[in-house]
Amino acid sequence: MERERRARVFSGIQPSGNLHIGNYLGALKNWVAIQDDYENYFCIVDLHALTVPQDPKELRRKIREVAAIYLAAGLDPGRCVIFRQSRVPAHAELCWLLNGIARFGELSRMTQFKDKTRKEGTESASAGLFDYPVLMAADILLYNAQLVPVGDDQRQHLELTRTLARRFNHLYGETFVVPEPMIMKSGARVMALDDPTEKMSKSSPRPGSYISILDEPDAIRRKVRRAVTDSGTEIKASPEKPAITNLLDIYSATTGRPVEEIEDEYRGRGYGQFKQDLAEAIVEVLSPVRERALALLDDPRGLDELLERGAEKAREVSRPILASAQAKMGL
Ligand code: AMP
Ligand code: TRP
Repeated sequence: MERERRARVFSGIQPSGNLHIGNYLGALKNWVAIQDDYENYFCIVDLHALTVPQDPKELRRKIREVAAIYLAAGLDPGRCVIFRQSRVPAHAELCWLLNGIARFGELSRMTQFKDKTRKEGTESASAGLFDYPVLMAADILLYNAQLVPVGDDQRQHLELTRTLARRFNHLYGETFVVPEPMIMKSGARVMALDDPTEKMSKSSPRPGSYISILDEPDAIRRKVRRAVTDSGTEIKASPEKPAITNLLDIYSATTGRPVEEIEDEYRGRGYGQFKQDLAEAIVEVLSPVRERALALLDDPRGLDELLERGAEKAREVSRPILASAQAKMGL
């Protein structure tokens, strides 16, 4: 008897900057947790990285680093297709088709674009940065993915992806699956350690603002110790205490324990012990990932081959979906 096809999952991370605990808790960890239940496509979105200037040598190195971290975090290449976006030309091709139906107005409203151009203005921003969400929609729709596990910052991009899928289906006939976001309650929006009003970001120039997945244990301990806290001494999540709320959220997502339970444990105790225990919880989760990733990076050829095998499979799966979109549009 034929087995029922599993629902498809698609997600990706850009190979730029340093992958941090926000990427781990908001995305990677959840991919690993659900990989048995779905047909999985996990992409290294190198074309997205090109929307801001990259050093070519560094980009090449980062691509392998992300591949190593995917595997080290627990993605199983036997169950997941792991590949680079640029090795599957259909992503850029479908992006162009969708550009025909995406609207200038809706792209102008994307908060990520507005955030990324806040400092320098839009005049010098690349056209790619503006078009970034359309390429992301192409990534997802190209595989008819039903589910997209991401951090909270991608919610708006996912909504646009759904709009574009529906608009295309309406204009040209049923073609794309309308995907659902999968966003966890805890760890979906990790804030910077030195400024809890700002999202923890890979491209931050301040290493103290993030915990990198590849940070050594002592660096993790130091960064947690130096993390800003709020006034008062109470360890309780609340809107007036964004710093401690962030640390509690990280603690909860790292250990799987509810925030209330952690608050109870530290009631009447100071920040010192709390931070020390939090640092150890993070070290316990990230250290094995770091060690496995470093070992995998000793074999760059092996990583390249794995990515190439993934790309072959991704090309095969996406080809008929692109062809169908092209045909429907009259190409
Ligand atoms: P990026 O770093 O933009 O390539 O994002 C890769 C994945 O990590 C996406 O699913 C993001 O939503 C997620 N992510 C990025 N930054 C954070 C953060 N500070 N907290 C939680 N998730 C995040
Ligand atoms: N835009 C995502 C981010 O910055 C990365 C990404 C690109 C992505 N294509 C995707 C995530 C497709 C999920 C699905 O976080």
